[in-house]
This record gives sequence, C-alpha cells and structure tokens, in this order.
Amino acid sequence: MAPRVSCFLLAILFSASCEVIASLDQTCTEKEANKTYNCENLGLREIPDTLPNTTESLEFGFNFLPTIQNTTFSRLINLIFLDLTRCQINWVHEDTFQSHHQLNTIVLTGNPLIFMAETSFNGPKSLKHLFLIQTGISNLDFIPVHNLENLESLHLGSNHISSIKFPENFPTQNLKVLDFQNNAIHYLSREDIKVLRQATNLSLNFNGNDIKGIEPGAFHSKIFQSLNFGGAFNLSVILNGLRNSTTQSLWLGTFEDIDDQELTSAMLEGLCEVSVESINLQKHHFSGLSSTTFRCFTQLRELDLTATHLQELPSGIEGMNSLKKLVLNVNIFDQLCQINAASFPSLTDLYIRGNMRKLDLGAGCLEKLENLQKLDLSHSDIEASDCCNLQLKNLLHLQYLNLSHNSPLGLQNQAFEECPQLERLDLAFTHLRVNAPQSPFQNLRLLQVLNLSHCLLDTSNQHLLAGLPNLRHLNLQGNRFPDGSIPKANLLQTVGSLEVLILSFCDLLSIDQQAFHSLGKLSHVDLSQNSLPGNSIDALSHLKGIYLNLAANSIQVIPPRLLPILSQQSTINLSHNPLECTCSNVRFIMWYKENLHKLEGSEETTCASPPSLRGVKLSDVKLSCGMTAVGIFFLIVFLFLFTILLIFSVKYLLRKKYQHI
Ligand SMILES: *[C@@H]1O[C@H](CO)[C@@H](O)[C@H](O)[C@H]1NC(C)=O
Ligand SMILES: *[C@@H]1O[C@H](CO)[C@@H](O)[C@H](O)[C@H]1NC(C)=O
Ligand SMILES: *[C@@H]1O[C@H](CO)[C@@H](O)[C@H](O)[C@H]1NC(C)=O
Ligand SMILES: *[C@@H]1O[C@H](CO)[C@@H](O)[C@H](O)[C@H]1NC(C)=O
Ligand SMILES: *[C@@H]1O[C@H](CO)[C@@H](O)[C@H](O)[C@H]1NC(C)=O
Ligand SMILES: *[C@@H]1O[C@H](CO)[C@@H](O)[C@H](O)[C@H]1NC(C)=O
Ligand SMILES: *[C@@H]1O[C@H](CO)[C@@H](O)[C@H](O)[C@H]1NC(C)=O
Ligand SMILES: *[C@@H]1O[C@H](CO)[C@@H](O)[C@H](O)[C@H]1NC(C)=O
Ligand SMILES: *[C@@H]1O[C@H](CO)[C@@H](O)[C@H](O)[C@H]1NC(C)=O
Repeated sequence: MAPRVSCFLLAILFSASCEVIASLDQTCTEKEANKTYNCENLGLREIPDTLPNTTESLEFGFNFLPTIQNTTFSRLINLIFLDLTRCQINWVHEDTFQSHHQLNTIVLTGNPLIFMAETSFNGPKSLKHLFLIQTGISNLDFIPVHNLENLESLHLGSNHISSIKFPENFPTQNLKVLDFQNNAIHYLSREDIKVLRQATNLSLNFNGNDIKGIEPGAFHSKIFQSLNFGGAFNLSVILNGLRNSTTQSLWLGTFEDIDDQELTSAMLEGLCEVSVESINLQKHHFSGLSSTTFRCFTQLRELDLTATHLQELPSGIEGMNSLKKLVLNVNIFDQLCQINAASFPSLTDLYIRGNMRKLDLGAGCLEKLENLQKLDLSHSDIEASDCCNLQLKNLLHLQYLNLSHNSPLGLQNQAFEECPQLERLDLAFTHLRVNAPQSPFQNLRLLQVLNLSHCLLDTSNQHLLAGLPNLRHLNLQGNRFPDGSIPKANLLQTVGSLEVLILSFCDLLSIDQQAFHSLGKLSHVDLSQNSLPGNSIDALSHLKGIYLNLAANSIQVIPPRLLPILSQQSTINLSHNPLECTCSNVRFIMWYKENLHKLEGSEETTCASPPSLRGVKLSDVKLSCGMTAVGIFFLIVFLFLFTILLIFSVKYLLRKKYQHI
C-alpha cells in the first residue's frame, strides 16, 4: 500500500513540476513591437530567449529570481524601464546593471532584500526612479549610494524605517519625490532634515507614520513642493514642527481607522508660522468650531475639508480673502447658506459633492461669490421645484455647474439666466421637470457641453434646446423618445453647432431620414444600445468622416444602397448586432471585409444567422452566392449543345420545307 501511495504522490509531484515547466513555455506579451514586453506571473526563472535584445521596457513581476547579477539582464542592454515586483529577490550582486546605460527606472517592490552590493546600481547614466517599497529595509544605510546622483524619486513605503537619516554622502540634489509612507518614523530631528537641504522643490511623504515629535527648528526656512503628514495623531506636533517652513501643499488628512484627536484652534496655532498655499484636512473632527478655528488659515489659496463632519461653517471667519478653492465634499449641511460663503469672497472653485443630507439650495446663498467659476453640487440629494435663478443668484462668472445625481429639479424658462457665462452644465441622472414650453437653457450663449443623460426628459418638446448657439457636446443617453422614434421635426433642430451627440440607451426603434439634417458639424455620433435596424443609417447620409457607434442595435441586413454612407465615415462600430450572414447580405459582408481598417470592435462583430454561422466573426465569413465554377461550366456546355441542336433542327426543318421544290 505504502509504495503505491508514494507512487501516487510522485505522480502528483511530477505533474506539478510538469506544470511549472509548461508555464515556462508561455510567452511574454508584446505591447509595442521590439520595445515593450510584459512577462508578469509566468513562473520564469530567467529572461526568456524570445525577448529581443532591443527591449526597452520590461514588466517582469511575479516571477522567480532569488539572485540577480551581471548576467541576468546582460542581453537587454537597451532597457529603460525594468519592473521586478515580487520576484523573491534576496540578493542584488555587484554590477547587475553595468551595461544598462539607458536604464532610468528600477522597480524592486515586494522583494525581501537581504543584500545589495555597493555597486548594484552602477551602469545607468541617469537612474531617475527607484522603487524599494516593501523590501524589508529598516535602515537607509542599506541603500547603495553609488551612481544615484540623478535620482529624482525614491519610494521607500511600507518598510521598517524608523529614522530618515541618510548617509552624509547620499546624493539628494536632484530628488523631487521622497516617499516614506507607512514606515515606523516617530521622530524627525534637525540633522535628519538637514541632509535634504540640497533638494529643492521636494515632495516629502510621511503618510501613515505616527510622528510623535519634531525637533524645534527642524524645518526652519526649508522649502517644499508638498509635505504629507496624513494620519498623524497629534497635529499640533506637526504644525509646531513646521514653523518657519514653506510648502506649496500640506496634506494633513486622517483615516477612518485612526483614533486621532479632535482639532481645536489651539492645535492649529502653529500654522500661523508656516507658509502654505494648500491644505487638506480630510476626515478630521473639529471641536468647538468657531471663527477663530480658522485664524491661521488666512494665507491659504486652497482648503480641502472633505468629510470633516461639518454641519456648518461658522459665520464671522475673517481674512480669508486669498482662498480660491474650497472643497466641502461629504459633509452634513442641511442648507447651502450654512457654509457662510461670504467669508470667502475670492472663491473661484467650490465643491459640495456627496453631501450626506438632503441639501436645500436656499436663496442667494452664494451671491457674494462674484468670482465663482466652478461649482460642483453633484450627489447631494438636492431637490427644487423651481430651479435655479433664485438659488444661483449673481453667479455672473460661473463657467462650470455640476448638478448631476440629484433629486428632481423643476426648470422654468431661462432657468440659468443668473449664470450667463456657463460653458459646461452637467445634469446627468437628475430627473428634470421642464415646466415651460420654451427652453430652460435659453441664452446660455457660451454653453459648449451639456449632459442631460438619464434625465427622464420630455423629448417631444422641440424647443427644449433652443438658444444654445455654441453647444458642441450633447449627451442624451438614456432618455426616451415617443414611440421610440426620432421624427423629422425634433429637439435637435436648434443645435446646429453640435459636434458630439450621444443617443445611446434611448430605446430607439427608428430615426427619420431627415432627423439630423440641421446637424452638419457632427464628428461623433453614438447610437449604440438601441433597437435600430439597418436602414436607420439613411439619417447619416449628409455626414462625412465621423466616428459612428451603432453597436448593440438590431441591425440584421444593410442594403447595398446604404454602403456609400458607411464608406464616407472614418470609424464605425457595428459590434453586437444580430447580423445576417446569408446571400441577401452578401454585398455588405464584402464591403465589411474591404473596410476592416475603419471598423472597431470586429472581434465582437459576428453573425447571428443562419444557425450554422452563429458566432462566427464577420471578417471570417466566406459566402458563395450565385454560380459556382462547376455550375457555370455545365451551363456553358448546356447552352453550347442547345445551340447546336437548334442549328440542326432549323437546318432539318428548312431542308424538309424546300425538299419538294
Ligand atoms: C523588430 O525587429 C525585427 C528584427 O530585428 C525587424 O525585422 C522589425 O522590423 C522590427 N519591428 C519594428 C516595429 O521595429
Ligand atoms: C560578470 O562578473 C564576473 C565577475 O566579476 C565577470 O567575470 C564576468 O565577465 C561578468 N560578466 C559579464 C557578462 O560582464
Ligand atoms: C543579442 O545579444 C547577445 C548577447 O549580447 C548576442 O549574442 C546576440 O547575437 C544578440 N542577438 C541579436 C539578434 O542581435
Ligand atoms: C516644483 O514641482 C512641481 C511638481 O512636482 C512642478 O510643477 C513645479 O514646476 C516645480 N517648481 C519649480 C520651481 O521647480
Ligand atoms: C522662525 O524665524 C524667526 C525669524 O527668522 C526666528 O526668530 C524664530 O526663532 C524661528 N522659529 C523657529 C521655530 O525656528
Ligand atoms: C499634542 O502635542 C502638544 C505639543 O505640540 C502637546 O502640548 C499636547 O499635550 C499633545 N496632546 C496630546 C493629547 O498628547
Ligand atoms: C459631475 O460630477 C459627477 C459626479 O460627481 C462626475 O462623475 C462628472 O464627471 C462631473 N461632470 C463633469 C462635466 O465634470
Ligand atoms: C456628462 O458628460 C460630460 C461630457 O461628456 C462628462 O464629462 C461627464 O462626466 C458626464 N457626467 C456624468 C455624471 O457622467
Ligand atoms: C463598440 O461599442 C461598444 C458599445 O458602445 C463598446 O462597448 C465597445 O467598446 C466599442 N468597441 C471598441 C473597439 O471601441
């Protein structure tokens, strides 16, 4: 019994090793001929011979290379980008990249590194990006400093680093990004930061480190592009530590799973001595919120208070005249006036997306924001029976308005009269009740993009889109037309400047031949996901060089007279239609094969009938319609014999007739 069991085990082992060998045969995928290859997760133990010497970019992650040395990649001397994520690399030997002069990026993420030779990175003339994420590094001395003079980004996230003290000779002069996310750094000393003095415009990331102390003056007169102290437990430690420093942006947000302290005005005190343009405080709780909380925020140009549990912003905030961009997403306002917008008179961008309660727009809550250009109120459960002139009063410079994903809005005539400069208006997924015979969008002379997808519009209102002389992009996806048909006289007649028209998912059954007649500038028409038959193509006869999507309709046959209309377009998608591959459609199928370069989605463009050809790609169909060669041969023989017979019988008859003469 025992030998049998072991035989059986042996067989399993053997077949398992067979599988490994078999997977060795799997080939890398070519992404760009002779240059870019992906060999990820193929169980490889070496660089396959199939890769050309000219390879420049190689994704080789999830293979098995416990040691790498000068022979490992020696053939691929043109490498620029090399990704070796999770290859179980323990040892990086001397001069591994000695002949790779062009190498610019090395990714060693997720390798349990035990040893790196002093000359590991010798060779590349300009190594710029080095990823040592999750490599078990606990000390920066581990990183060989040779040949890193041109390094621009060093990624050291998710290691066990507790001190950011680089060796004194570490070349930092070109560093732009230094990422220490999720390490064990608790203290930053003057010495630590001093090593970085040569790096200008540095983005320094300490996200997910619990920093408990910063030596006073450590950041004194240092200048950064960005600083990230996300997830810090005590913000006053950070802000006090940053005194006298300058940074473009400061990320101080926190995360759900961190039990940090509520923010008080005292904790934010240190900010008064930091020069900063943009701050993110996402997910913090404020305690005792009052106008003094923001005392040290006066120099800011951007403030992000996403998900900070705000029910209101206190009135009487003073001095925030520089603020241009305010993000208040995912808070719990009941009414728009609760943000006390007048405290931020210079705002150009305001985001109140995803409010957690039904947001009442009130009346004129933003009227002091004369410079507002961008307003995002999407996903905020806004409902209004008569929108939007009272609500958006005095927003004379508004260019972008997003009211998508809200509750029903009633729109009267000229509903956006207060925002005459609108260029982009997004009302997608908001049920619109147009209470006027005329257009709610009248007089939006600069409007270019209008998203009315899934708005449950009354599309029979022919004036709905009147007064939009510059509209270029119109999305009507998911709206229905009466009887599933776009008639000759329809709401599109007034928007002759349209370039992009989206009518997908509109349950269309037919389109009148003249329906798009006034739309001469179209360059992109999406009619996909409807139930249109082949003859709907007639409606496009006046258009040339457009992108046309007819995917997922009910097209069975395209009559020959419509083929010239398709020929004159640039790209056509006919995938997922129930196409007939019979002789009644043979002209179209021939046309299709000759025009494959114009067709996209040809993998999914297949026959639906006859049953014998169901699922076959249209480009692979071979139809023999009309006569075969054999048939033609017999026909000729038959005609030949018939002629001979005729001649003989005529001769015979004539002879018989004149026999008696
Ligand atoms: C790729 O290399 C082969 C052999 O050197 C060459 O024939 C082919 O033209 C190259 N292809 C491209 C796109 O460079
Ligand atoms: C790799 O290094 C060894 C020992 O230093 C050397 O003998 C060998 O020539 C090198 N191989 C290549 C391809 O340079
Ligand atoms: C690729 O490089 C190797 C080693 O440098 C060389 O022996 C081989 O001939 C090269 N192959 C081609 C196709 O150039
Ligand atoms: C600083 O870096 C940012 C992005 O990292 C870049 O946009 C900006 O131009 C740089 N500024 C200077 C002065 O180099
Ligand atoms: C900040 O700079 C001022 C003036 O340069 C100096 O008096 C003060 O000591 C500095 N504070 C810190 C914490 O470095
Ligand atoms: C936070 O840090 C400050 C010093 O910057 C300290 O005074 C305060 O007690 C700390 N708070 C807690 C709860 O540790
Ligand atoms: C409007 O907001 C929604 C959801 O927040 C977003 O998906 C959409 O892209 C925005 N529209 C525009 C035109 O940016
Ligand atoms: C509405 O359409 C515009 C333009 O195509 C697009 O940028 C935006 O994301 C769309 N909105 C939604 C909610 O999908
Ligand atoms: C063809 O159109 C369908 C439906 O819009 C889309 O899903 C598909 O990606 C398109 N095909 C290509 C190749 O773009």
